[in-house]
Amino acid sequence: MNGKLEIRDLHVSVEDKPVLKGVDLTVKPGEVHALMGPNATGKSTLAYALMGHPRYTITQGEVVFNGENLLDKDPAERSRAGLFLAFQYPVAIPGVSVANFLRTAINAHRRALDPEYKGIPVPEFRTLLKQKMDLLEMPYEFAGRYLNDGFSGGEKKRAEILQLATLEPTVAILDETDSGLDIDALRIVSEGVNAVAGPNLGILIITHYQRILNYIKPEFVHIMLNGRIVESGGSDLAKQLEAQGYAWVREKHGEAVSEA
Ligand SMILES: Nc1ncnc2c1ncn2[C@@H]1O[C@H](COP(=O)(O)OP(=O)(O)O)[C@@H](O)[C@H]1O
Ligand SMILES: [Mg+2]
Repeated sequence: MNGKLEIRDLHVSVEDKPVLKGVDLTVKPGEVHALMGPNATGKSTLAYALMGHPRYTITQGEVVFNGENLLDKDPAERSRAGLFLAFQYPVAIPGVSVANFLRTAINAHRRALDPEYKGIPVPEFRTLLKQKMDLLEMPYEFAGRYLNDGFSGGEKKRAEILQLATLEPTVAILDETDSGLDIDALRIVSEGVNAVAGPNLGILIITHYQRILNYIKPEFVHIMLNGRIVESGGSDLAKQLEAQGYAWVREKHGEAVSEA
């Protein structure tokens, strides 16, 4: 497994409507990328298409992950291959506790590597969970609650990052993990992401706002407009967006807008 995610000329339609119109992006282990852009430009569509959501139809292009065709795999296989998506709108699973959910997910991943794997022993799981929850400043009682059931916006996002921390993927896509967070929750979630970041993890942060980038420092910043990445650069690009908004991007790439 080389951990490299390569998106080449990706075109995606939702209900026969073309949304992504040729996206090229490569995320390597250890790299932190930010994908920014106005609402409805296709950022979440990219995330869902990469995870294999059935509503998102690939009409052209390819995605190679670990040197293999990602698009051949179902969502569970993509997850076991090391791809992780933190959802913009996490779903509640009443009746399944956070701890149970995480233990099931860990076991599924380990069984994918070793079909004989008996399941993580309870003491090992407890130690692992405590360590990750401490990292995210989460009270332990959180583990006993039903996943996302009645969680606040901040708790849902923290639960997503807890999944990220326990599953240890090689590429993590964080879709609007900052949206709806107050400043304290944003800091805690960002510190959690920074704590799991490292040479073996590639991170793609999808965000509308520059705010989260005060806490998480991407080396690479991309701007999506109308289903295409129209600008790529360093962190200065995010600063420029904060200062000037998206108007200059729309103006510069006006053709792409009128084509919509
Ligand atoms: N599940 C869906 N059903 C219908 N339309 C969708 C769906 N997902 C995305 N779209 C459409 O695709 C476009 C891009 O949406 P999205 O990827 O959510 O943008 P962003 O995340 O950048 O705000 C929008 O016009 C949106 O209405
Ligand atoms: Mg979105």
